[in-house]
Amino acid sequence: MEKQFEYIEKIKEDNLRYAEQNGARRRAFVMTFGCQQNEADSEKIAGMAEAMGYDICEEPSAASLIVVNTCAIREHAEQKALSVIGQYKHLKNKDPELIIAVCGCMVTQEHRVNEIKFSYPYVDFVFGTSSIHRLPELIFEKKRLSKRLYCPEEAEYLVAEGIPMKRKAGARAWVSVMYGCNNFCSYCIVPYVRGRERSRTREAVYAEVKELIEKGYKDITLLGQNVNSYGKDSGYDYDFADLIAYLDTIEGDYMLHFMTSHPKDATKKLVDTMAEGKHIAHHFHLPMQSGSNSVLKEMNRRYTFDAYMEKVDYIREKMPDAVITSDIMVGFPGESEEDFEDTLKALRRARFDMIYSFIYSPRKGTPAAELEEQIPENVKSARFERLLATQNAISLEMNKPLEGKTIRVLCDGRSKNNSSVFSGRTEGNKIVFFDGEDTDTGKFLNVTIERADTFALYGKIVK
Ligand code: 5AD
Ligand code: SF4
Repeated sequence: MEKQFEYIEKIKEDNLRYAEQNGARRRAFVMTFGCQQNEADSEKIAGMAEAMGYDICEEPSAASLIVVNTCAIREHAEQKALSVIGQYKHLKNKDPELIIAVCGCMVTQEHRVNEIKFSYPYVDFVFGTSSIHRLPELIFEKKRLSKRLYCPEEAEYLVAEGIPMKRKAGARAWVSVMYGCNNFCSYCIVPYVRGRERSRTREAVYAEVKELIEKGYKDITLLGQNVNSYGKDSGYDYDFADLIAYLDTIEGDYMLHFMTSHPKDATKKLVDTMAEGKHIAHHFHLPMQSGSNSVLKEMNRRYTFDAYMEKVDYIREKMPDAVITSDIMVGFPGESEEDFEDTLKALRRARFDMIYSFIYSPRKGTPAAELEEQIPENVKSARFERLLATQNAISLEMNKPLEGKTIRVLCDGRSKNNSSVFSGRTEGNKIVFFDGEDTDTGKFLNVTIERADTFALYGKIVK
């Protein structure tokens, strides 16, 4: 990072000179696709841009620097990013000085870098997930050499500490505890685009969380592709349960969430630590993917449905109030009607509060994409609809008993879709709508639930 800070200073000088001459500061726009890890990376991109003397803006047309942070998890995510990049062509025509950069998971794949090279000539540079911290150097070199740059991936994926961050407004913050994934689920591109697992030290995470709490953040989500294997890669003598127990000692009124957990590594010790914790939310996101053992095996998930359910039962035994959510995928290659029905049965047995549901999307370079028996799109869509219908009924059943109960909600402010109501989230991340006041934003409130439906709760603040 030291080298990067030198570049930051040089670009800042140039940007300040520009501001003096033109009476307006240069602006930067960051567009983010994908998961929270990408959101967290974008906070670093915005933080570095700010340190370089750019003002962050919400409109691409006002920017001198545009960074598109892409996702590769499904074809649809890549297509969306490519279409947005396509829309920026006319901005470059209007302002040839505009710098357009593309980063993130999509462009950590060689075939997509080539596509950008040949089909999107107005993109100035591309950098992969291991090179986020090199943004200042890339801007500097782009200006100096006046040619397009393709940042090679770092030979080793490192943990870069000390990158400035510009966090989103609000009382919630994300903190990465580890990067990368070693699991190689057969459908998933993540291990190829985010490299091997590496964990930040307990001290670095503690310092960041403590600072956030002191600044007034109320909800901290610890991030990693598989937080349950935290520390293993680095040979630490503490694991994820030890990490959260340590963070839980920080004084204050706040909540700790984490995601995502791989079921094969979710330990009883972790559940016990959550149950005993003072600030650890009783919310467990535990992706099941499928209820069929043969599909789970083909997915290389390394657990059976029964082993999965043992974990769910243990969570419920230790924390009867726990909210359990999951990721479910339909249409994995070779998934038979019977396999799919096993997934529906699994939903009825597990009774998740909510699921994120996905239609399998073949990813180039992953083993599952090579499997012969790909499921036709119409079959996948029909299964997806049945999956949603089954889960929606369960979600409603899980929410209904909350009617009449008073629960703690962290208020996020006025609802985006209807500014006359306020929204917030429960400890289990359920969305709640209520009448509030602007001074409630960022505070924990007690809300009595008057009505519960499939996707949301509606209530009144208890004063
Ligand atoms: N197709 C569809 N869904 C996928 N996911 C990961 N890879 C794919 C893919 N190729 C889903 C998994 C994972 C979630 C983050 O995204 O369910 O848990
Ligand atoms: Fe992908 Fe599996 Fe790693 Fe999750 S655990 S990021 S699904 S390979």
